[in-house]
Amino acid sequence: MILRHLLLWLSRRPGLRRWVETSPMARRLTSRFIAGQRLEEAVAVALRLNRMGLLVTLDHLGEHVQSHELARASRDAYLEALAEIRRLRLDSTVSVKLSQFGMDISEELCWEHVEAVVAEAARSGSSVEVDMESFDYVDRTLRLVVAMHEKYGNLRGVIQAYLRRSEADLEMLCERGIPVRLCKGAYSEPPARAFPRKSEVNRNFLRLARILLDRGVYPGFATHDERLLTEIRLYARQQGIPSDRYEFQMLYGIRRDLERRFLEDGYRLRLYVPYGDAWYPYFMRRLAERPANLLFLLKNLVRG
Ligand code: FDA
Repeated sequence: MILRHLLLWLSRRPGLRRWVETSPMARRLTSRFIAGQRLEEAVAVALRLNRMGLLVTLDHLGEHVQSHELARASRDAYLEALAEIRRLRLDSTVSVKLSQFGMDISEELCWEHVEAVVAEAARSGSSVEVDMESFDYVDRTLRLVVAMHEKYGNLRGVIQAYLRRSEADLEMLCERGIPVRLCKGAYSEPPARAFPRKSEVNRNFLRLARILLDRGVYPGFATHDERLLTEIRLYARQQGIPSDRYEFQMLYGIRRDLERRFLEDGYRLRLYVPYGDAWYPYFMRRLAERPANLLFLLKNLVRG
């Protein structure tokens, strides 16, 4: 637990971030979780995954940008990704973080950039999944998801099972017919906001998953937790819900064994494929989820 909080605290250190992201070891450090630094590399991965029967969501890494120039650059990176999705007919959505589009500078600016991406996705027959960041962004994120879904109809919102408020938010999205990705939640939140114990988060995840299966529109269950995955499949079977009415989602590079099994069993599975050079906070959250990854990483570095 202490190590998890330490890793999440380190994930927010800008000085360390600048130093590590430009380090010559970057590629060696990140290759397990990140498809590459350039769009071409991510597209090659997406093509390969699509051919295997996996769906994809492309994530151009970046968050908490503090300048207009970087916010515009994020928008442009996504427009390029959507052009590739259209050109190659990839079965892929895109995943965005609002802090990457200038939410920390101005909500209006952020909406403008995100709207350009959502409109382009609609033209390309794709959709936009709006990742959920730390607690301070929740209201602003849901506001945008609801408004843009009403206008374009091609968004998916994200609900974090660790937040105490999530059931109400999930009901609100279901009422409006907005698809939801359900995940556990990856940030450091105080107990007043988030369930502190893993067992409570898991229990809430399952409760919310059942609501989504009962009343949601094409929900996405984003977890690698085998116990939860089994329970969700069981509940869907018991309720007679066909497996094309929902999907599972996993992060690129985490559980290749599970991916294969899900495909063989005929489930829809989407992989979240991150790429780009602003990889540090994403990478540190993956370490925090499983500090044993630190060992794996050190072994790789030593092996050279
Ligand atoms: P848990 O952490 O309990 O892990 C279950 C098992 O999965 C572990 O025993 C291990 O086998 C494997 N595993 C999990 N993480 C691993 C890792 N890093 N390395 C190696 N093995 C690992 N969060 C958020 O706050 N906002 C968001 O928008 C999203 N979006 C999102 C999309 C997708 C597609 C996924 C899969 C996840 C997210 N998340 C997220 C992250 C999520 O909140 C959560 O932090 C991680 O998925 C880890 O939790 P699990 O549900 O996998 O369970």
